[in-house]
Amino acid sequence: MIGKKITVRDIIDMKSAADKIVMLTAYDAGFGRFLDRNGVEIVLVGDSLGMVVLGYESTVPVTMEEMLHHSRAVKHGVERALLVSDMPFLSYQVDVGSAIANAGRFLKEAGCDAVKVEGGLEICKTVAAMVRAGIPVMGHIGLTPQTAGALGGYKVQGKDGESARRLLAEAKGLAEAGAFALVLECIPDKLAGAITASIDIPTIGIGAGPQCDGQVLVSHDLLGMFEKFVPSFVKRYADLAPQIAGGIAAFRDEVKSGAYPDAEHSFAMQGEVADLLNQGKG
Ligand code: KIV
Repeated sequence: MIGKKITVRDIIDMKSAADKIVMLTAYDAGFGRFLDRNGVEIVLVGDSLGMVVLGYESTVPVTMEEMLHHSRAVKHGVERALLVSDMPFLSYQVDVGSAIANAGRFLKEAGCDAVKVEGGLEICKTVAAMVRAGIPVMGHIGLTPQTAGALGGYKVQGKDGESARRLLAEAKGLAEAGAFALVLECIPDKLAGAITASIDIPTIGIGAGPQCDGQVLVSHDLLGMFEKFVPSFVKRYADLAPQIAGGIAAFRDEVKSGAYPDAEHSFAMQGEVADLLNQGKG
């Protein structure tokens, strides 16, 4: 293990220590290992899985089985970071009993440390019940992609007084319900600052400015691997798509020309079998 395993308590304590929390997404063991070994405190198996890996148009079609399958894979690469998985659309909204049962599957079957759910006051009762059952829960308010249709699309939230007041109330409600952290997505920076100051649990921003207690991005966005669209709040720290395309094209060209595999990348026949083959040539 690379350092001590990070717990929910450690994440909460980072807020009072003013130690910024780093969270990134992973969908397989290899990516999970990259994040774990490079100081990322929270690895999120986001339901962005649907768009980034499975090729869906939104996160809505993502199923429990898909999330569990990829969560199990990520778990194989993560030793130190806190592992959080998104609960997919309609896996926690129908009734409290099925929400607890579905959330429990992420801990029991995939080895996750916590789950994340999208929504405000309407899910506080469910969050409280999941926490009472012993399941650590991260909330997610502002732009909630699972219900983006109902919000009028992928738009900045909390721009007027009424919706800003609602977001403040939702943050307080989720903190009181026992959520251990809150993702704030696509809200004005000053509102994110006010929410962050108004609750004791950490806020983790995505398109919510610098005053949050931590930041999260979709890994494929910051590495330049998802080219379909790039939200304006994403900063690209690497541009891997051209490098991947270059590697694929070079392999294709060398296979076509016969340059690959050369002797260095082949197994030479030796000894008795080589002699046998040479005899056959005579
Ligand atoms: O699904 C996801 O990847 C997310 C993060 C972007 C916060 O919810």
